[in-house]
Amino acid sequence: MQTPVPDYLDEVRETCAHEGDDGEVASYIPELADADPSLFGVALCTIDGTVYASGDAEHRFTIQSISKPFAYALALADRGLDTVLEHVGVEPSGDAFNEISLEQSGRPRNPMINIGAITTHALVGDADTTPADRVRRIREGLSAFAGRELEVDDAVRRSELDTASRNMALAYLVHAQGKLEGEPHDAVEGYIEQCSLLVDVRDLAVMAMTLASGGRNPVTDEQVVPAWVCRQVLAVMATCGMYDAAGDWMSTVGIPAKSGVAGGVLGALPGQVGIGAFSPKLDRFGNSVRAVRTCERLSRDMGLHLM
Ligand code: DON
Repeated sequence: MQTPVPDYLDEVRETCAHEGDDGEVASYIPELADADPSLFGVALCTIDGTVYASGDAEHRFTIQSISKPFAYALALADRGLDTVLEHVGVEPSGDAFNEISLEQSGRPRNPMINIGAITTHALVGDADTTPADRVRRIREGLSAFAGRELEVDDAVRRSELDTASRNMALAYLVHAQGKLEGEPHDAVEGYIEQCSLLVDVRDLAVMAMTLASGGRNPVTDEQVVPAWVCRQVLAVMATCGMYDAAGDWMSTVGIPAKSGVAGGVLGALPGQVGIGAFSPKLDRFGNSVRAVRTCERLSRDMGLHLM
């Protein structure tokens, strides 16, 4: 007899919770240091829009770097592939997410690391878009991916903005290379607001399934971005989404994914499933220990590996 999906997810979550409690909650954004490390949720969304969830599935946390593939999708849809590629590359950096990873041309190496994500943020909209309109476009775009209106956690936003010297430095550097449109300070401020959007694991699962369905949200049926955009985004997630652990991730889990420093992980298997997982403690690459473990288990049990 087959186990019903919710019971199966409970079992996966419990096993992964008991496999140890290593890792550290992120603290370089002061507000994130207060997260309850015991929180742990997981959700799956299937191609017909059915969502299964287990654990702290209602708990909302800031999306952080998981916003990067979606802002990249909007930039591609708004500006086209050639213009985006003039500003940001598609090669893994081999460095940490907050490193100065530039190619010789001055282009950030990819849109999944901070330096490339700040550059990508500034490309959303068109040359006349104001910083406030750009943030609105991103909030509405990410909400369309999730199928509900997402809100900003203002305490996290302010906390990150107060300690943003490194991201500011990255933005000024790209600006000096001629690859960042507009004012560096505006780009970082908008990027931080993008990272402060609140999601739960169900949102992540639906957002992932939308990417994995050629841009059509399986719950609302809205075509959020064109299919070619999703192909580009998923390709870059596959090689750069888990930072310097991307190779290990691709060999063990084998699906395009993105992590965030609040503890979220999103995985998208084209045409099949969207995964959202969350627990605050991170490994040395900045990926949630329990969420990574959960994805490894789901991939193994359900045969999700692309290869
Ligand atoms: O810019 C930052 O540092 C954060 N807003 C996002 C970093 C992040 O999520 C890295 N991922 N694991």
